[in-house]
Amino acid sequence: GAFQGRPVQVIKCKAAVLWEQNKPFSIEEIEVAPPKAKEVRIKILATGICRTDDHVIKGAMVSKFPVIVGHEATGVVESIGEGVTTVKPGDKVIPLFLPQCRECNACRNPDGNLCIRSDVTGRGVLADGTTRFTCRGRPVHHFMNTSTFTEYTVLDESSVAKIEAAAPPEKVCLIGCGFSTGYGAAVKTAKVTPGSTCVVFGLGGVGLSVIMGCKSAGASRIIGIDLNKDKFEKAMAVGATECLSPKDCTKPIGEVLSEMTGNTVNYSFEVIGRLETMVDALASCHMNYGTSVVVGAPPSAKMLTYDPMLLFTGRTWKGCVFGGWKSRDDVPKLVTDFLAKKFDLDQLITHVLPFKDINKGFELLYSGQSIRTVLTF
Ligand SMILES: NC(=O)c1ccc[n+]([C@@H]2O[C@H](COP(=O)([O-])OP(=O)(O)OC[C@H]3O[C@@H](n4cnc5c(N)ncnc54)[C@H](O)[C@@H]3O)[C@@H](O)[C@H]2O)c1
Ligand SMILES: [Zn+2]
Ligand SMILES: [Zn+2]
Repeated sequence: GAFQGRPVQVIKCKAAVLWEQNKPFSIEEIEVAPPKAKEVRIKILATGICRTDDHVIKGAMVSKFPVIVGHEATGVVESIGEGVTTVKPGDKVIPLFLPQCRECNACRNPDGNLCIRSDVTGRGVLADGTTRFTCRGRPVHHFMNTSTFTEYTVLDESSVAKIEAAAPPEKVCLIGCGFSTGYGAAVKTAKVTPGSTCVVFGLGGVGLSVIMGCKSAGASRIIGIDLNKDKFEKAMAVGATECLSPKDCTKPIGEVLSEMTGNTVNYSFEVIGRLETMVDALASCHMNYGTSVVVGAPPSAKMLTYDPMLLFTGRTWKGCVFGGWKSRDDVPKLVTDFLAKKFDLDQLITHVLPFKDINKGFELLYSGQSIRTVLTF
């Protein structure tokens, strides 16, 4: 279609397509249709690799195939559809896997953020029920309203946050998922208090961001837990006061933590995505006044069994998507805070690779060597 007198064409570009589960990405030429009404087409400048993308590859998260995943990115608006008012071509933006429509009841509640337009069930299409991607004559699905492992993508306007032009794309892309999710879990969802004791299970990019949030909230003791001891050095650098591996414990981890802290764990966070560690984290916080937050994505269609006595005695168990932030309102503010040096993203970025090396980026995740790999275009 044409908008404001400017013809908007189909774009041919490169994308990393997943044709089926448990297969590597295939770099393909795809066609990206023009944005329809209330949609925005953007050119991706940089995109991070998050464990959630791998959950799709492994089938732990439901998705239709073929699909273009990727959800942690920075881009620039290339064209807009009819009726788009909040961004224009040339604006620097962050795609939002959690939209903010500002109309649904979660958006209208001051404490809500899980917008009804988020694609939690893996429909893999935009709001009108269709896709904007075609490859080899076949439609290719979207992922969580984002799909950033491509040179160009199309998003609903409610999934786009305009950010300051000065923001460095290869860093602030982490504000699109990992950093904000972890940091918000501590400062917004748990509301960590000064002087408190915190425990963080899982020291990947999201877990390290939880540690940063606990530290900035004034926690005095932050204990990092991971099976991979290579993660400890980074965790200490971003604010952990001590780290331990469950492999080195002969007793249940909850008991070990209770002894270490004199039974004073105020907050615990599960940032792995495993049922066992969700219960371990719950059991690790104080039996009466402790709060435990589920941040790791639970494997789909799995049920959890736990002793309800863990809750009966007073613990609070909660979860959050995207750190509890209202995405379109809060992402631009987080970018401004980053530019004002209120937090550091460099420590989370261990590798920067050209987009075409995406499979190498995932190998670095699997081998435990990377925290965040950022792909540049
Ligand atoms: N709630 C949200 O909105 C949201 C957003 C982003 C990511 N996530 C989820 O958060 C989780 C973490 O993401 P990430 O990118 O940091 O992942 P990651 O894979 O980089 O980090 C996970 C860490 O957990 C460790 N680990 C694995 N099994 C363990 C065990 N049994 N005990 C202790 N440590 C163990 C790994 O060694 C690794 O360091 C994932 O499940 C991801 O899907 C959720
Ligand atoms: Zn993510
Ligand atoms: Zn909404």
